[in-house]
Amino acid sequence: MNRFLISVFLCYLAIAPFLNCFSLAELITCSGIVPMRYRNDKISITDFGGVGDGKTVNTKAFREAIYRIEHLRRRGGTLLYIPPGVYLTESFNLTSYMTLYLARGAVIKATQNTLNWPLIAPLPSYGRGRELPGGRYMSFIHGDGLRDVIITGENGTIDGQGEVWWNMWRQRTLQFTRPNLVEFINSQNIIISNVIFRNSPFWNIHPVYSRNIVVRYVTILAPSDSPNTDGIDPDSSSEVCIEDSYISTGDDLVAVKSGWDEYGIAYDRPSSDITIRRVTGSSPFGGIAVGSEASGGVQNVFAEHINLFNMGTGIHIKTNIGRGGFIKNITASNVYIENARKGIKISGDVGDHPDDNYNRNALPVVHGITLKDVWGVNVLQAGLIQGLRDSPFTGICLSNINLRTTTRPRTPTWKCSDVRGAAHQVSPLPCSELSSVQNTGSCSTHF
Ligand SMILES: *[C@@H]1O[C@H](CO)[C@@H](O)[C@H](O)[C@H]1NC(C)=O
Ligand SMILES: *[C@@H]1O[C@H](CO)[C@@H](O)[C@H](O)[C@H]1NC(C)=O
Ligand SMILES: *[C@@H]1O[C@H](CO)[C@@H](O)[C@H](O)[C@H]1NC(C)=O
Repeated sequence: MNRFLISVFLCYLAIAPFLNCFSLAELITCSGIVPMRYRNDKISITDFGGVGDGKTVNTKAFREAIYRIEHLRRRGGTLLYIPPGVYLTESFNLTSYMTLYLARGAVIKATQNTLNWPLIAPLPSYGRGRELPGGRYMSFIHGDGLRDVIITGENGTIDGQGEVWWNMWRQRTLQFTRPNLVEFINSQNIIISNVIFRNSPFWNIHPVYSRNIVVRYVTILAPSDSPNTDGIDPDSSSEVCIEDSYISTGDDLVAVKSGWDEYGIAYDRPSSDITIRRVTGSSPFGGIAVGSEASGGVQNVFAEHINLFNMGTGIHIKTNIGRGGFIKNITASNVYIENARKGIKISGDVGDHPDDNYNRNALPVVHGITLKDVWGVNVLQAGLIQGLRDSPFTGICLSNINLRTTTRPRTPTWKCSDVRGAAHQVSPLPCSELSSVQNTGSCSTHF
């Protein structure tokens, strides 16, 4: 019997009362890269004194429940059930072979006690916190060196109560880099599904140095003016599949990264084999983004059936001098964009630097970007593609793109420099660097 049938069979037999069978069978669409495990052993946060009254601080309950899972090591792992109610807690670490299951109406809510928030070491590929030098605050829900972890349930909520952090950022009183909502470091076989993420202090979901990650049926919400609340940022990670999700935040919806400048170059860990499909959302920044931190390299990104509304930029590939690394074999297709400042932006001058020690000769290589079947209405500028003089962007292939602009008379619809590639059935007509289908070179196979 193949894996699909086994899954459906197990689902039918045993999991139906507890897990969402629909998502189990559908997992095949996310390349089936991570099996949805059924856990025989189940415990509830209330067994550890958890109180869901929105006031009691449940840190001890979470830490004890997870300590028990880690040390009893029940065969097949353990499911930690969070019943309906609001469970306030400080940050906590997950452990391997566990499912964090949020019932309908369950909310795991971060305390706003920023003073006692634990600090952890910076990521080696960043050399310091992303925002500020030194360490960084641990993510609200954290996993380091884990395998086989599932965060799921009946669309319960993980709420970062980020406002206090956003205000510290606005008032420049932050001491260290703000916490992500959920981070997995050096982890594998992770599923995040059927959960609502709200008000992250910083990035929402951050898998880093990890592989085999599935994120699906999630909703990620933060106000459009909340700073740096990226939706999902696969970072130096591979085999990541993001599907069937709605993301509306204050920064990029999905941004594929791999460290920055001299730290990312030295750590040399690419992101690869990233699938993004059926994602809908809004943001004043990018919809599908790569970079700007891409010093370890980013390759084999495939995005399709993306619906973007009220956006800054629909598709944004961004890098900078000093980044080094490469961005190659990136494909986006079937993208619908409505109300955006820019449809497409590929540029080599975006993002800041960790410090002044970056190597000005470390030029990124951008090659093999295929954008096809892109539709846009109310797009102010169709495209801006600006490579680097000493490292032109090559193999930029645009096909079947129709962006209806609402430009004022003198705004250029396309602007290009230091770029090579080809365009086929693109409207409005792209810049001359791309407008010819002669000499399509490596583009010809994409048309
Ligand atoms: C949680 O994990 C971090 C990083 O691995 C570690 O520094 C910290 O001590 C852990 N905290 C607890 C309470 O176990
Ligand atoms: C949870 O939300 C997803 C969409 O994000 C939806 O497809 C699914 O049916 C919901 N599940 C439940 C149990 O409500
Ligand atoms: C390019 O990426 C796609 C995934 O989008 C992958 O299937 C393909 O094998 C990659 N091509 C090369 C040459 O690596």
